[in-house]
Amino acid sequence: MIEVSGLRKAFGGREVLGGVDLTVERGSVVSLLGPNGAGKSTTVRILTTLLAPDAGTVRIGGFDVVRQVPDVRRIIGVTGQQTGVDRLLTGYENLVLMGRLFRLGTAAARRRASDLLERFDLTEAAGRPVKTYSGGLERRLDLAISMITAPPVLFLDEPTTGLDPRSRAGVWETVRDLLSGGVTVLLTTQYLEEADELADRVAVIDGGRVVAEGTPASLKQRVGSERLDLTFATAEAFEVARIVLDEAHTGEGLVLSVPVDGARDVREVLERLDRAGAEIADLALTRPSLDDVFLSLTGSPTIGAAR
Ligand SMILES: Nc1ncnc2c1ncn2[C@@H]1O[C@H](COP(=O)(O)OP(=O)(O)OP(=O)(O)O)[C@@H](O)[C@H]1O
Ligand SMILES: [Mg+2]
Repeated sequence: MIEVSGLRKAFGGREVLGGVDLTVERGSVVSLLGPNGAGKSTTVRILTTLLAPDAGTVRIGGFDVVRQVPDVRRIIGVTGQQTGVDRLLTGYENLVLMGRLFRLGTAAARRRASDLLERFDLTEAAGRPVKTYSGGLERRLDLAISMITAPPVLFLDEPTTGLDPRSRAGVWETVRDLLSGGVTVLLTTQYLEEADELADRVAVIDGGRVVAEGTPASLKQRVGSERLDLTFATAEAFEVARIVLDEAHTGEGLVLSVPVDGARDVREVLERLDRAGAEIADLALTRPSLDDVFLSLTGSPTIGAAR
């Protein structure tokens, strides 16, 4: 449904996309995962006809984004990184307005607005101006607006950045709902966890290039497993633990980092330490973060650190 090949873009001579290739099958969700400045929004803007590429081809549902702009626009919905709602209007008014802009008749626009409010669990907030909404609520309204024309292809640019965990879960729920309707989605995110929750496949983008592509599970495998970080009360306990846990691990100070795979593993490690009498002062379970993904995939630390 989405085919991107050799996509390039430079701004003022500075290359921002250096040949992006990407495929999204019909009815699937692909997440473009990358840090600030990786080129996610630029990619989305090109794919949604808002920005012209310098080179490469992009087809959405078979239509070329440069030569068949109206055809592409007819089948896509997009929610940008900043929400596009009018904050003085109510949720209902925003939806009706957008319906009218998309040339639905008044009655049809109203009907559609009510349907979407219900579907996105916004009924209670429908009559309030958007400026009174929480961030999560506003995001959900934004998603509803992007569905006004019931497009088969949806682009979501960082749908949950800046939201608290509960609002984030609400948006995820909404996106999952959309997916069950068979929509094809390209979603950008900075969070591995989000890609993990929602995406069938993940393309990791860094410095304007896709540096890795695969299922969330396969990516995480490349990054490594969860780790149990154990802090010991004394140097003796630390030494005992080092001997007892003779598998691959790293240690620094009184902290040992042990790779683990699930709760069972954690219990076994703790039991072994307990039997050996190595007293633990503190412990933490660490999952691979986006930083770890990048470190492992690009060999350089990410985000601000690399630039
Ligand atoms: N119109 C523009 N003119 C000049 N430079 C731009 C323009 N738009 C984007 N850039 C630059 O292109 C690079 C990629 O930007 P882009 O917005 O695509 O990143 P992003 O992955 O969406 O990042 P974020 O996670 O912060 O949203 C950045 O270095 C940005 O400064
Ligand atoms: Mg962006």
